[in-house]
Amino acid sequence: MKIVCIGGGPAGLYFALLMKKLGPQHDITVVERNKPYDTFGWGVVFSDQTLENMRQWDPETAEEVQQAFNHWDDIELHFKDRVIRSGGHGFVGIGRKKLLNILQSRCEQLGVKLAFEQDANSDLDYPDADLIIASDGVNSKVRLRSPEVYQPDIVTRPNRYIWLGTKRLYDAFTFLFEKTEHGWFQAHVYKFDEHTSTFIVECPEHVWLAHGLDQADPQQSIDFCEKLFAKNLQGEKLMSNARHLRGSAWLNFQRVKCAHWWQHNGHSHVVLMGDAVHTAHFAIGSGTKLALEDAIELVRQFKALGDTPAHIPEVLRQYQAVREIDVIRLQNAAWNAMEWFEVCGERYCDQLEPEQFMYSMLTRSQRISHENLRLRDKAWLEGYEAWLAARAGTPGARPPMFTPYRLRSLTLKNRVVVSPMAQYSAEDGRVGDYHLTHLGARALGGAGLVMVEMTSPSEDGRITHGCPGLWNDTQVQDFARIVNWIHTQSDAKIGLQLGHAGAKGSTCRPWQGAGMDQPLPAGDAETNWPLIAASAQPYLPDGQVPRAMTRADMDRVKADFVAATQRAAQAGFDWLELHCAHGYLLSGFISPLTNQRSDDYGGSLENRLRYPLEVFAAMRAAWPAHLPMSVRISAHDWVEGGLTPADAVEVARAFKAAGADMIDCSSGQVSPKQKPTYGRMYQTPFADRIRQEAGIATIAVGAIQEADHVNSIIAAGRADLCAVGRPHLANPAWTLTEAARIGYTPLAWPRTYVSGKSQLEAGFARERALQTATRGD
Ligand SMILES: Cc1cc2nc3c(=O)[nH]c(=O)nc-3n(C[C@H](O)[C@H](O)[C@H](O)COP(=O)(O)OP(=O)(O)OC[C@H]3O[C@@H](n4cnc5c(N)ncnc54)[C@H](O)[C@@H]3O)c2cc1C
Ligand SMILES: Cc1cc2nc3c(=O)[nH]c(=O)nc-3n(C[C@H](O)[C@H](O)[C@H](O)COP(=O)(O)O)c2cc1C
Repeated sequence: MKIVCIGGGPAGLYFALLMKKLGPQHDITVVERNKPYDTFGWGVVFSDQTLENMRQWDPETAEEVQQAFNHWDDIELHFKDRVIRSGGHGFVGIGRKKLLNILQSRCEQLGVKLAFEQDANSDLDYPDADLIIASDGVNSKVRLRSPEVYQPDIVTRPNRYIWLGTKRLYDAFTFLFEKTEHGWFQAHVYKFDEHTSTFIVECPEHVWLAHGLDQADPQQSIDFCEKLFAKNLQGEKLMSNARHLRGSAWLNFQRVKCAHWWQHNGHSHVVLMGDAVHTAHFAIGSGTKLALEDAIELVRQFKALGDTPAHIPEVLRQYQAVREIDVIRLQNAAWNAMEWFEVCGERYCDQLEPEQFMYSMLTRSQRISHENLRLRDKAWLEGYEAWLAARAGTPGARPPMFTPYRLRSLTLKNRVVVSPMAQYSAEDGRVGDYHLTHLGARALGGAGLVMVEMTSPSEDGRITHGCPGLWNDTQVQDFARIVNWIHTQSDAKIGLQLGHAGAKGSTCRPWQGAGMDQPLPAGDAETNWPLIAASAQPYLPDGQVPRAMTRADMDRVKADFVAATQRAAQAGFDWLELHCAHGYLLSGFISPLTNQRSDDYGGSLENRLRYPLEVFAAMRAAWPAHLPMSVRISAHDWVEGGLTPADAVEVARAFKAAGADMIDCSSGQVSPKQKPTYGRMYQTPFADRIRQEAGIATIAVGAIQEADHVNSIIAAGRADLCAVGRPHLANPAWTLTEAARIGYTPLAWPRTYVSGKSQLEAGFARERALQTATRGD
């Protein structure tokens, strides 16, 4: 086959040499616009695992690369006059020039033709090639020529960065943070050979503009950075060598992904590789890894399917199918890490203390969890756990999940909340034996706080006929029985969630056949009742149309909420939550999707919040001052034109000003048109953002499924409590089980259950030992 690689970066060179090795008969040329041994950039990092992969395909290259590697384990943070270091992270660094030189000379050795100083215009320059590898980097001309085929999705990110080098040598992957009068800068620094370190400086666009760096020439930018990081550079200079395609100075990262990776251009097959088809932000440092692994995969497919022109289409199909999965996974992690660095100046630098800032930074990609950090550096993690526990008022290291939490006069024994979950099992709004058993079991199961499902302040505010209420004294007695039982039989606290269903009321129980949120069928023994809401808009297109609330309705509903608050206090609840989420009555006021009012309660966010805040303030005044109150919100409507996470910060600020202690950060269920992005801990970013930006404690909820999740969230300061819903339906003793799973044995079990404790712990201990043995550490 005749093969041309356009671009002699890691992707093009490595593919060329592996392919030549696979089939020496192939005629392979790498076309590179730069001179030989002349390239931009300083060092790149990748993992030991990438090198192992390379070793299997060409031991000669791997050996040379290994000789040139700088290996280091530690990450060091320099922040607010503190230096914090943790180990076990395992990076290797190599000069980009060195890597390319190794690849170039190996290409020459194997007989690959290297054509330097040739700027290819497009893939059409080589009509006699069977296969063209477009390895021409992030600004790929080949990709640009056929956007309709490759369908690139390119996002230019807001931060500015400059890729510099220095002769100051660092013995850890080092992160430097410096505050200026206009905001924060950070530097990502790592040594890559015996004499030089890479020094990437990054800041948000507005900080960059405020310093006039858009007007600065490269030398002025270098001078600026030298001055900014002078204390750390200890007299060493910063240097630039970006004379080539990366321009002179500050860049914006471009995240590239493509829907389709290859085509036939009428003469040849063309396939994108490396940065031309996908980029990964340097915050995770894996662009070179991806480029090399692309090359390996394409060669693997030729080896498996046959390396003749006839096989090319199938090889390219398989190449994309296999690679795009790994690439998406890595790009997602890189995206999280990149975003962390984009918002850290606003969200974390001023808010978090150095110890917690370090933890937050280490877990920024969300690929490294709490237990993963323990494997990397046990001593450092235990030190951090002890620091965190001391701040929560308990001595000694313990998992963050098991640190107590104090709010007003109440102390929760740990950070786990049983999320409120409707059971549709009340009669005439009365809770009974079912609820005593359900809530009692969960209180014995180890959670610090058990929340009762949404409970209505009035008969017409229920979701279904099976939902509980608190509009009469009998209901107070029913709840008091459960509260007393939990207070006497467990050390859990119990909270009530008060909410009015609004437009989502008068529906079937989920198991009644019609499906969730469906109006009761006509002729059913349990009849529908008329609905009220912010606006006369049904939740489902064919649902019951509610009546838009008048001021008189508002007064009546507010009075109901206040009376229910007093009854909740009478029943002995420890905690009260106002439900302003999920499209129910008060949420319906807040979201622009459901509030179409033209009076003082509609329009701007301030107006839309007016009534929910009024209700909240009246309840807060009626609720005992020594007890906490939280507000559950939908922090994202997941619909174009709906409430956004940025709006949610404003919502949280308003409730904080009205006296709320905590925001319980859920999302969605406001519109059936929602398109949420589900995933592990998918709503936690809202809790994190609100906590840091609005300065109020938060509850994270949503797909928090393991102790490791809770520990990571609490330890990083992304939330103060974690609500766990569905896992508690499956296992009332979720907290006790998770403690045993991670080997946290000092936890006190209910005295009646103690016999089950050591058996469960021993079972999990065996599992952990087995995992360690299989992992080989
Ligand atoms: C600041 C920064 C830091 C980075 N740090 C890391 C890191 O730590 N670890 C890591 O793994 N990755 C890192 N990367 C990413 C890494 O540099 C790239 O992901 C990697 O180089 C991709 O390899 P490639 O071969 O696809 O493209 P490139 O390395 O960009 O190579 C493309 C080549 O094509 C040539 N070319 C382009 N157009 C033409 C043309 N028309 N004709 C002829 N030749 C052409 C160019 O001159 C270039 O040599 C970093 C990137 C940046 C910007
Ligand atoms: C059966 C069921 C009933 C629910 N009822 C309520 C409720 O009454 N009030 C509320 O705010 N959220 C309710 N939710 C949402 C949960 O509290 C929680 O936010 C959601 O299930 C996500 O958490 P998870 O992934 O841990 O389950 C309910 C969820 C389920 C599964």
